[in-house]
Amino acid sequence: ILSMTCHVLVLVLCLSAAEDFDWTKNDRGSFYYGTFPAGFSWGAGSSAYQTEGAWDKDGKGLSIWDVFSHRKGKILQNDTGDSSCQGYYKIKEDISLMKELKLDHYRFSISWPRIMPTGIKSDHVNEKGIKYYDELIDNLLENKITPIATLYHWDLPQVLQEKYGGWQNISMVNYFNEFANLCFERFGNRVKYWITLNNPWSVAVEGYETGEHAPGLKLRGTGAYRAAHHMIKAHAKVWHTYDTKWRGKQKGLVGISLSGDWGEPVDISNQKDIEAAERYVQFYIGWFATPIFHGDYPQVMKDFIGRKSAQQGLGTSRLPTFSSQEKSYVKGTCDFLGIGHFTTRYITQKNYQSGHGSSSYFTDRDLAELVDPRWPDPGSEWLYSVPWGFRRLLNFVKAQYRNPMIYVTENGVSEKIMCTELCDDWRIQYYKDYTNEMLKAIKDGVNVRGYTAWSLLDKFEWDEGYSERFGLYYVDFRNKNTPRYPKASVQYYKRIISSNGFPNQREVENWKRKATETCSSSNQLLAAENKEG
Ligand code: NOJ
Repeated sequence: ILSMTCHVLVLVLCLSAAEDFDWTKNDRGSFYYGTFPAGFSWGAGSSAYQTEGAWDKDGKGLSIWDVFSHRKGKILQNDTGDSSCQGYYKIKEDISLMKELKLDHYRFSISWPRIMPTGIKSDHVNEKGIKYYDELIDNLLENKITPIATLYHWDLPQVLQEKYGGWQNISMVNYFNEFANLCFERFGNRVKYWITLNNPWSVAVEGYETGEHAPGLKLRGTGAYRAAHHMIKAHAKVWHTYDTKWRGKQKGLVGISLSGDWGEPVDISNQKDIEAAERYVQFYIGWFATPIFHGDYPQVMKDFIGRKSAQQGLGTSRLPTFSSQEKSYVKGTCDFLGIGHFTTRYITQKNYQSGHGSSSYFTDRDLAELVDPRWPDPGSEWLYSVPWGFRRLLNFVKAQYRNPMIYVTENGVSEKIMCTELCDDWRIQYYKDYTNEMLKAIKDGVNVRGYTAWSLLDKFEWDEGYSERFGLYYVDFRNKNTPRYPKASVQYYKRIISSNGFPNQREVENWKRKATETCSSSNQLLAAENKEG
């Protein structure tokens, strides 16, 4: 009943707010025909644990995700990433899919325990693991696809978790730096775009606060802040290592990939809602971006967490502090900002009592999240399609961090459980509308240089297992060869890429028709092969 009331409330407020909406010159709904700047880079992405499989092959060590997914009850249907898409064995096949799309870049991540089995360099470096990434990188370059490598997409070596408590421990800063340094040494002659950490928000909140993700800790009110603090320092250290040791000869760029939903005030004439929405975004992307661009946490985080900690009777804030030396060390450690973005929320002010031992990241924010029941949600429960939120987030980033160079590192949509529908018109719609809002943002002056569709393949979706499919390509996980099949969105995305945008209405309308022409025969093929199997 509560959520129904909220929905109705949101509905009413939206209807009344729609009239005086004037944040942009164009109305929210209008489509913008035009093209992206020359040289704009189009790509697709993946991550090691989600796609490689081969979890225990060729000397790879265990990661926290190997261990977490093997524990009963942690992952939907007890799925694991043990074999996943078998990407480890399919470099050539997957690159041919990228060629089909005519991608300019491919974003992948390097599994730390695959090349350092315990996470510690002095223990052992696994040359077989290095060889795999060498081959991947060489094959990409031979096919004129720019590699964008992420150093940490959540697969911390298990030994570092067991020995030190993972990101709760400051020693991760040096271990991560040694790993990164080895990657620069071995791959940096060919890889020119580095992403230190992927989505540290998720690692902190879901890994150390709610425990939904590995390592599964529930250190409410403190764990996420401490993990984040160490990750920010680790990121900064790796940037400095590149800057002082490698940049001169390798001439690459080092950034970080932050994820952020957009938060829109429920009632745009209510100051409290406006502030709550701002807080939502500051506690999300600002938590990491503000230290990295300005040297310290957002003021609003310091204020809220500090006040609530005091009300609990704590002598110091649960939000750690940076010394003045650390502030200047962390500030400015980003050559480009990676943005992962999927969805938007309406935000309203909501007070939480503190002082009853129930502190958490979520209650620290004093807000409630709402959704408009009319927003499409074709896939994951949390993922509502709200394209205009993307443009706003990008403009927020421009305004807050002095117009940094941006690469969109993740954007995409999933589909519902067990769906074997290759005619994914909802994904076509999502990509069309979100990339169009990105184009509008570029026209607004936001410095976006590239876009990465998430993801190339269906894959292991963390605690949701294989139930949520984000791929442009469908992967048949029931077949032990894990064959890939193009969804209709492949045909559509391909056309956005080859036109570098949206030339004109007539042509763009044709794309959709053409994209869906072939998918029904692919559907039949898939169904037939399943029958035989
Ligand atoms: C962000 C994560 O970085 C990625 O691994 C995941 O697949 C997407 N969110 C979708 O949930």
